Amino acid sequence: MPASQRPEVRERLLRDGEIVARSDGSRHSIFPVAIGAREGQALEAWARREGAQRSIEVGLGYGVAALFLCAALAEAGPDSGHVAIDPNQATRFAGCGIQVLADAGLADLVDLVEEPSEIALPGLLAEGREFDLAFVDGNHRFDGVFLDVVYLGRLVRRGGIVMVDDHQLPAVARAVSFCVRNLGWSIEEASTDDPRHHWAVLRTAAAPDTRPYDHFVDF
Ligand SMILES: C[S@@+](CC[C@H](N)C(=O)[O-])C[C@H]1O[C@@H](n2cnc3c(N)ncnc32)[C@H](O)[C@@H]1O
Repeated sequence: MPASQRPEVRERLLRDGEIVARSDGSRHSIFPVAIGAREGQALEAWARREGAQRSIEVGLGYGVAALFLCAALAEAGPDSGHVAIDPNQATRFAGCGIQVLADAGLADLVDLVEEPSEIALPGLLAEGREFDLAFVDGNHRFDGVFLDVVYLGRLVRRGGIVMVDDHQLPAVARAVSFCVRNLGWSIEEASTDDPRHHWAVLRTAAAPDTRPYDHFVDF
């Protein structure tokens, strides 16, 4: 682990479940908005297993998922980096996500995009960006998650990983089901360990998309 990293920041945040924002002094209880330790550990393990160097996340929030992801990226090589998309980081979250990443010595890895994902993701695609792994925990309504997974499917390399939080929500499960039944994605892991945050780890199709123009499988 690079000497500049401070893992105790993550441990303290998860233990206390609270943070005080330096930007305005506001006090925040991070759960159940933030993911729990088990999901974070699963995310970090997938990033390590995939040898991920470039990751992307929708919904930085309190930065818990990013802390786990960046711990893996920090050891993946000098070109590693993480894009975190969140339009509400400076407002609703008072900068807490970026604050914990900075405190943990991981902020240099992170590029924060303060736009809604439905605006940011097509922009990244237009720039020709590519990622190894994505984590989705943003707008949980169907249209929001659907756009996120479809765009992330194009931004993540073929056969890469898209992990989604809150798979217990019908809107999230439906969006996942579209990808599995229509885009040839597979579910690598589905966990109900945390009753408030089920997660699913999806692998995108390895082959190019050759569906005919009228292809449709009900989902
Ligand atoms: C449940 S929280 C994410 C918590 C985070 N995974 C963590 O571990 O701390 C959901 C986040 O999605 C963000 N969000 C909501 N709508 C969004 C959108 N359209 N694009 C990107 N992020 C969005 C919210 O601002 C919030 O930070």
